[in-house]
Amino acid sequence: MRAVVYDHYGPPEVLRIEDVPKPLPNDDEVLIKIHATTVTRTDCGLRAADPFIARFFTGLLRPKQRILGTELAGVVEAIGSSVTEFAVGDHVFGSTPAFRFGAHAEFICLRESDPLAHKPAGISFEEAAPVCDGAILALMGMRPAGIESAKGKSILVYGASGSIGTAGVQLARYFGADVTAVCNTKNLELVRSLGADRVIDYTEEDFTKNGRQYDYIFDAVGKLSFSRCRGSLKPGGSYHPTDGLQNVILAPLTSRIGGKRVIFPIPPRYTKKDVLFLKGLIEAGKYRAVIDRCYRLEDVIEATRYVETRQKTGNVVLTVIGRRAQ
Ligand SMILES: NC(=O)c1ccc[n+]([C@@H]2O[C@H](COP(=O)([O-])OP(=O)(O)OC[C@H]3O[C@@H](n4cnc5c(N)ncnc54)[C@H](OP(=O)(O)O)[C@@H]3O)[C@@H](O)[C@H]2O)c1
Repeated sequence: MRAVVYDHYGPPEVLRIEDVPKPLPNDDEVLIKIHATTVTRTDCGLRAADPFIARFFTGLLRPKQRILGTELAGVVEAIGSSVTEFAVGDHVFGSTPAFRFGAHAEFICLRESDPLAHKPAGISFEEAAPVCDGAILALMGMRPAGIESAKGKSILVYGASGSIGTAGVQLARYFGADVTAVCNTKNLELVRSLGADRVIDYTEEDFTKNGRQYDYIFDAVGKLSFSRCRGSLKPGGSYHPTDGLQNVILAPLTSRIGGKRVIFPIPPRYTKKDVLFLKGLIEAGKYRAVIDRCYRLEDVIEATRYVETRQKTGNVVLTVIGRRAQ
């Protein structure tokens, strides 16, 4: 099968298409023919070994896992003898478990217990592939604050136009929070359409200086710091970053001191329960993954360069097979 592989950490040009052996499913696995996948910031960070500390998980000198990619949508091509949930021909979507990867390829084997579900009816493979990563990272970031029972609480989503941000706005809105979103001028309308109650253009207004305070601040793009937005938190409020090594220290420290605190849950955990939850939201018309651009698998270097501009809106999809298949 064709796959995007890399043998050395480095710039996007270390990626190349190679013929590699097609995997065979174990008893508890399904073999999926991938129709669409995505290029995420995680793929880029691991490929570049940025931050350096990532090498302790992915291989100190060279990557242990040659194929990146976490999200996918495709068709079940074969099943192991003990699989009951899926059948050959089923349309599925989901994610590899954290740190497994392997979706930048024509085929992948996943356990039926992995974060995998039947694709929601009515959306294409390209629309299904980017559903999980941003949304699950947003859930992971906001959940420890009790976002699921945040009815009436106020949340500010900073970086609301990214993959995690567009998901964060929709999920916070779904859970009943009062959502203020911060993004660039060009994305104001999009972010409003995702359900934000108000939108701040960061090129026009610094939210930390307007005197308003929030129960939660979700930094979906890793550009803020606790010290910068502390004054914009209500007493007892929490700051939820998605990035920044300093937050690994600040999270336990601020939880002991009390008052305003940093909540930074890592490492990420992708679960079937969350994929099923997202499927339900999509079918109820309450959630959609925002897609910026679609590239062919062969154009993975170009797609990666675009993701690395850090200016994508929502998600970047890689089409592995066909176009707009339902
Ligand atoms: N915790 C984890 O496990 C984990 C996993 C993956 C990624 N991450 C981190 O999560 C963060 C977000 O990832 P992502 O994939 O959602 O990012 P992304 O999609 O690449 O975010 C890009 C978006 O952020 C906006 N943006 C850039 N600078 C901004 C600023 N100063 N203020 C407001 N918006 C700004 C950009 O719009 P404009 O430039 O047009 O404003 C663009 O729409 C990254 O820091 C990444 O490292 C964390």
